[in-house]
Amino acid sequence: MTLNDNTMKSNEDLTVQLAALEKIALQLEPSASQRQAIAQQAFDYIDEFITALPDAPGYKEKSCDALKALTIDDHGKPFDELLHILRDEVDQSGINSAAGTHMGYIPAGGLWTSAVGDMLAAAANRYVGIFYSSPGAVRIENQMIQWLCTITGYPATAHGNLSSGGSMASLIAIQTAREAHQIDSTNVRQAVVYFTAQAHHCLHKALHITGLHEAQQRIIPMNARYQMDTRALADALRQDKDNGLMPFLVIGTAGTTDTGAIDPLDAIADLCEQYNAWFHVDAAYGGFFTLLGDIAVKFKGIERSDSLVMDPHKGMFLPYGTGVVLVKDAHTLLRTYSHQASYMQDAYGFDEISPSDCSLELSRHFRGLRMWLPLHLHGVNAFKANLEEKLLLCRYFHEAVKELGFETGPDPDLSITLFRYPSKDSNAFNQQLLKALHADGRCFFSSTQINGQVWIRCAVLSFRTHLKEIQLALRMVEENLERIKEEVS
Ligand SMILES: Cc1ncc(COP(=O)(O)O)c(C=O)c1O
Repeated sequence: MTLNDNTMKSNEDLTVQLAALEKIALQLEPSASQRQAIAQQAFDYIDEFITALPDAPGYKEKSCDALKALTIDDHGKPFDELLHILRDEVDQSGINSAAGTHMGYIPAGGLWTSAVGDMLAAAANRYVGIFYSSPGAVRIENQMIQWLCTITGYPATAHGNLSSGGSMASLIAIQTAREAHQIDSTNVRQAVVYFTAQAHHCLHKALHITGLHEAQQRIIPMNARYQMDTRALADALRQDKDNGLMPFLVIGTAGTTDTGAIDPLDAIADLCEQYNAWFHVDAAYGGFFTLLGDIAVKFKGIERSDSLVMDPHKGMFLPYGTGVVLVKDAHTLLRTYSHQASYMQDAYGFDEISPSDCSLELSRHFRGLRMWLPLHLHGVNAFKANLEEKLLLCRYFHEAVKELGFETGPDPDLSITLFRYPSKDSNAFNQQLLKALHADGRCFFSSTQINGQVWIRCAVLSFRTHLKEIQLALRMVEENLERIKEEVS
């Protein structure tokens, strides 16, 4: 008899076959001692990784070709062999997003306590799509959403969803706006969407996916600080209304990716009220700075928006994988995403809102634990201190880089600044400098282009970035600048 021979039907024969299969199947359930050994090795690996972070490069170019040789076999491999591959081919290549020397894009670091939350969530494997399946986990996620409503000035009647990131959260918000204003094939070409050239590209994706690329789109000019010019917005809204179009959606940003600029949210909210347009705020990067009383005034008006997005995997320093959308009118959110099916009938009739009624996802892991655990373990003050420190570090860098002879972008609203060295061909020079900085790798910066000008960005948001890392970054910039200047001359 072979394992695959299904012609023998007697239970006696099946028992023998099942016993053989079970023996192999049980390989997926390590024994207590095997679990301990694996956990120990994993924690040792993590400890070694975190201990080395203060001296680890922010960026390392590596092709990771050795991974191609790793075959997927019928039989398992030893854990330490796999950990070696992880260390050599994954965790030491490209941008070191756990390191405090990561100052490109939007860094965050990735809290270790959040990683522990992920481990706990995955091991218990709660099904957090619906309340009745995991009432405790859903209550925790809903509490996280309510806490975010509190810090952004949304009412307790608002609701939202913990998503995989800002892009998914934006998609949820844009589709909800579409539903609220009943945009369909009959009126989409009269609907108008307003945003600046600094709106994050995930919003363009969201507009496309929701069919709103067929709507009229107005790119509103900005002032010298890259904030939406609300006079230009007012003109555009008035003109569109006069022309029989339907102002539908205004997208403001509270912390743009390029420069960290915060649009004048209160003035935008006034105009949205006047024209009955949905006001969406992308606060994926900037949102958590609302925790700081001192700069809360810059965010005035965020509480008047209809929907907003924040990324705990940015401003709360969580590992990648958590964004949040908040929608002021929870009924519209539910109308957009709540659907029923006969095989789901046991899940209905509970008072608590289920995550699957607020997003596209049904089966869902316990995403909220990675946020809830660090928030409770460390307390809010630890987050506030980190955020305030990052604002000050960015200002420090901004001033110091000027002293090195660099031109900078506007004084930072938050924790991002731009710098470029003035030269005969500034774009080519700064691209060469960026290349040198990447090859150096001690710290990592990214770059952008605004109005055709190449800028290097310094984004300070990793909870592991402190004064020491900023000073190292400045030294690295200065050394590479001198070298390139010599090469060019
Ligand atoms: C302002 C802003 N909005 C949206 C996003 C997209 O978020 P995510 O990368 O989490 O999808 C980003 C990402 O950096 C961002 O900076």
